[in-house]
Amino acid sequence: MIFSEKEIILKNGEKCILRPVSKNDAKSMIEYLRMVSGETPFLLRNEDEVNYTIEDEETLLDNKRNAPREIMMVADVNGIIAGNCGIVSNGNLRRVYHRCGFAIALKRAYWNLGIGTSMIEYALALAKEMGYEQAELEVVDGNGRAKNLYEKVGFVEEGKNIRALKYDDGTYRDEYKMIKIL
Ligand SMILES: CC(C)(COP(=O)(O)OP(=O)(O)OC[C@H]1O[C@@H](n2cnc3c(N)ncnc32)[C@H](O)[C@@H]1OP(=O)(O)O)[C@@H](O)C(=O)NCCC(=O)NCCS
Repeated sequence: MIFSEKEIILKNGEKCILRPVSKNDAKSMIEYLRMVSGETPFLLRNEDEVNYTIEDEETLLDNKRNAPREIMMVADVNGIIAGNCGIVSNGNLRRVYHRCGFAIALKRAYWNLGIGTSMIEYALALAKEMGYEQAELEVVDGNGRAKNLYEKVGFVEEGKNIRALKYDDGTYRDEYKMIKIL
């Protein structure tokens, strides 16, 4: 969905624009995804699993931009994609039409500047405007920074998926389900 750009001032005084993604972001988005996947163990992909072509990414971004009930938002700091968050539909079946998913990741250099809080608040307000009644997400055990952010904006832990992620060294981590009624 296309939504209004929003300017925020970060804790370090820099300006950041929260805006819809466009297909012109394809190259930067692949670079961003590769970087965040390598910087934290709390996302689904390993860095070497980010193998999209520019053409694939352009198509995906275009589809996201034009999806009526989805949002892909980037945090743009001086032309650099600092982070990305998304509202994802559960499909058009009436019994799950009221639910959406939420996901977010920022490059490490942009953590703790207030971007995550601003993005999640804006995305959830847009989700409510779109008619969603609840937002849902998964957070990996040990990701205190993310859990703190989610609880701050009203998400509540509602379940646990044990051994949800398996790492290359053979270890596992559980994942918590969190829900916010909008
Ligand atoms: C989780 C993430 C989105 C948070 O975004 P952010 O822009 O850093 O968050 P903010 O600056 O808005 O807020 C961070 C909050 O966490 C707090 N915090 C910082 N380090 C923390 C830690 N180790 N444990 C708990 N809380 C912490 C900060 O004090 C701040 O709280 P406050 O607003 O009450 O002062 C970001 O760190 C990130 O992208 N991490 C990697 C990817 C990821 O984990 N994504 C979530 C997957 S579920």
